[in-house]
Amino acid sequence: MTSTNGLRCVVTGAASGIGHAVAEQLIKGGASVTSLDRNEPAAAVDEHITVDLSDRASIDQAVEQLGTGWNAHINVAGLPGTYDPTLVFKVNFLGMRHLSEAMFDRLEPGGTIVNVSSTAGFQWAERLGAIRELLTQDTFESGLRWFEEHPQEGNAYNFAKECVTVYTMAMATGLVEQELRMNAVLPGPVQTPILPDFEQSMGKDTLDGLKGLLGRHATPDEVASAILFLASPDSSWINGHPLVIDGGISGAVLSGIVPPPEI
Ligand SMILES: NC(=O)c1ccc[n+]([C@@H]2O[C@H](COP(=O)([O-])OP(=O)(O)OC[C@H]3O[C@@H](n4cnc5c(N)ncnc54)[C@H](O)[C@@H]3O)[C@@H](O)[C@H]2O)c1
Repeated sequence: MTSTNGLRCVVTGAASGIGHAVAEQLIKGGASVTSLDRNEPAAAVDEHITVDLSDRASIDQAVEQLGTGWNAHINVAGLPGTYDPTLVFKVNFLGMRHLSEAMFDRLEPGGTIVNVSSTAGFQWAERLGAIRELLTQDTFESGLRWFEEHPQEGNAYNFAKECVTVYTMAMATGLVEQELRMNAVLPGPVQTPILPDFEQSMGKDTLDGLKGLLGRHATPDEVASAILFLASPDSSWINGHPLVIDGGISGAVLSGIVPPPEI
């Protein structure tokens, strides 16, 4: 079992789905949990701070209440691609990055950041040039300006998750001096309240097709246990890694066994 006993953790998105499962597993494993979400969590967290991740000022206010001495910061909160593209990009990438960077000085040496990306961002390599250009815009506001001035093809959700994946890989060595690690998980479809929105934005037939290959979607706990591993000292030499958690679909696509889904 992953050793999370005594860890002090901040979890975004703990009010629902995968974030709820992360909070429950951490609490069960003896960690303390501070929730950052726009909604109250049902899990028995130590503290809840209301935040709107689409709003830089709201993030800054939340961070002020956090203090220091944290061992793990876990970014789970996210919006599906059925919402306004700019809002999706703000919550899923710009807010997540702004909050994470405010946590760098608040994490203890040996601390970790885990970002929830998605296999929906699987085409990041094809857009690497644009994403690297975006990453040079290092504030919430300049990133937003870049996004507005550089319309991207396809759903903003996919682009935001591509950015989360590349950001995670790119940041890892930059955090070595502070003795921090950053990793990401890339889930395929997970049975959470967000799933009907994904069926709408990515196509129900496509998601049903993936479900048909494996017999089911993932459970939130299956994603949460991998997040806990990456958040704990058990994964001490894993850094900048995008860990796919999709029951095997990505492997089948990469090896040419099944065609890439059109999402
Ligand atoms: N469910 C899936 O199939 C799936 C697959 C791949 C990746 N993901 C990612 O996993 C993460 C969690 O998704 P989930 O399935 O648990 O969804 P969910 O809707 O159950 O939970 C999302 C959480 O994010 C919070 N949130 C949304 N907007 C916010 C904002 N502006 N400020 C603060 N909090 C906000 C919500 O209140 C909620 O607690 C998301 O980043 C999502 O993109 C989900």
